[in-house]
Amino acid sequence: MEANSPNSEVHMAESPQIPIGVPTAARVYDVMLGGKDNYAVDRAVAEASLAIMPELREIALHNRAILHRVVHHLAADEGITQFLDLGSGLPTVRNTHEVAQEANPSAHVVYVDIDPIVLAHGRAILADNANTTVVTADIRQPAELLERPEVRALIDFDRPVCIILAGILHHLADDENPGQIVRTLRDAVPSGSYFFITNFTRLGDAPESVALEKQLLEQLGTGRVRTPAELAAFFDGLEILPPGLVPLPLWRPEEPVLDASTVDVRFMTGGVGRKP
Ligand SMILES: C[S@@+](CC[C@H](N)C(=O)[O-])C[C@H]1O[C@@H](n2cnc3c(N)ncnc32)[C@H](O)[C@@H]1O
Repeated sequence: MEANSPNSEVHMAESPQIPIGVPTAARVYDVMLGGKDNYAVDRAVAEASLAIMPELREIALHNRAILHRVVHHLAADEGITQFLDLGSGLPTVRNTHEVAQEANPSAHVVYVDIDPIVLAHGRAILADNANTTVVTADIRQPAELLERPEVRALIDFDRPVCIILAGILHHLADDENPGQIVRTLRDAVPSGSYFFITNFTRLGDAPESVALEKQLLEQLGTGRVRTPAELAAFFDGLEILPPGLVPLPLWRPEEPVLDASTVDVRFMTGGVGRKP
């Protein structure tokens, strides 16, 4: 295989929308998850990140596992039938629609990502699923995103919806005002809607959390590691479900977490908020 060819079984030609010469967050995350939809530039960034924080592969799996627990809980126990998954990433093992539709086959799921590679791969796996779609859009323009016909076709904003912001807000810089983006989304959904957010966390006793931010900002252009207080501010105006904003594996674990002191457990924080 050529050095810069896709590691994918389905060859995807380079197009202006899918640059292979610059790394993207979706494809670097795909590397961490052991996926095949990435290029040499993405693998180089991932390797540099892993050199700083070797636990990152496990952390990515924790992020997927909490997504599954949250979506299952909301679909199975809270009667949520609509999910808007923002910064959804490349399709991987057990996607949001699979978990939601297992609990409720009529659940609607809209995936949104800025990276067109997500649309290209998502379309293929969703071809025969009328209740699920993929949209290429930028959450930094939340009002436009909410008006997209493909979004409106599946999400009824008069009924409760779950907005998923898993591992995406750390790809927004402070001056892109992620807090205001969350507020715009919060104001667009009715009472009884949920927000699920996960984010990189600055750890006072783990200097690698700061080193990783520096490396990601330099090599990927995004990757903001935020303090617990900054993360809590994303939930302003929402009622946070128990157990609160916690290290990902500690959110309603299916099996006991034997050691919660490790970096792999603590580097990402997540929680679920309900709009009152
Ligand atoms: C780390 S991945 C997370 C994927 C998935 N949400 C998860 O938690 O497993 C972050 C995703 O956010 C997307 N993203 C980054 N900035 C974005 C933006 N401004 N608008 C929409 N998507 C964005 C990236 O393309 C990438 O696919």
